[in-house]
Amino acid sequence: MIFGEDYSIRPLAPSDPIAGFKAGDPAAQPLKSFLQNQAQEFHQHSIAKTYVAEGVTRDAAGKLLGFVTLIASEIDIRGGYVVDDPAHANRYASLPAVKLARLAVDSRFRGCRIGEALVDFSLAVVAENIAPHVGCRFLVTDAKQPAVDFYEKMGFTLLDTEDNRERENPVMFIDLLKC
Ligand SMILES: CC(C)(COP(=O)(O)OP(=O)(O)OC[C@H]1O[C@@H](n2cnc3c(N)ncnc32)[C@H](O)[C@@H]1OP(=O)(O)O)[C@@H](O)C(=O)NCCC(=O)NCCS
Repeated sequence: MIFGEDYSIRPLAPSDPIAGFKAGDPAAQPLKSFLQNQAQEFHQHSIAKTYVAEGVTRDAAGKLLGFVTLIASEIDIRGGYVVDDPAHANRYASLPAVKLARLAVDSRFRGCRIGEALVDFSLAVVAENIAPHVGCRFLVTDAKQPAVDFYEKMGFTLLDTEDNRERENPVMFIDLLKC
């Protein structure tokens, strides 16, 4: 499916057909629960902003195909990554980031590059709307293990510390000045 032709990405709206979203496997059900129970309220009250991919053609028309949720965050890179520009940024325990807090594609539409489009959209939101105005060096996520390879393909790096490698949902990041 082609972004811009077969579907668009826009902020979550109160009338969105959330109930029809299929999460598929049980591991992804918490993502559907978030969408059904919290996403609207969090979006409205600036706790977490959710963006949806909405189908516009054929059997996808009017369907909610996927979503991504973004929040302000920080990352502790010590021991796992070194910022060289400027080097003295490394003395801080945390550096500013946006977290890709939730990401899911309807199980019937996986493999159509919608996940990739939602990550690209998130990068564009940060690069165009946040980083020029507010200090923000990283896009980060706590990756579910089965999605680590997906995020690597999207340009994320696994934070290379022993603690992080052992986490159930390890931290992955993109250095926005290096991508
Ligand atoms: C992970 C997820 C968002 C990917 O979305 P998608 O639309 O199916 O993925 P895309 O079609 O955009 O895939 C882009 C690339 O990533 C690869 N890819 C997709 N899912 C992958 C996975 N789980 N592991 C490894 N590679 C994966 C694709 O093969 C494709 O690779 P290519 O560039 O070599 O062709 C989707 O499978 C999903 O919603 N999973 C359940 C929830 C989840 O795990 N969310 C993320 C963790 S919080």
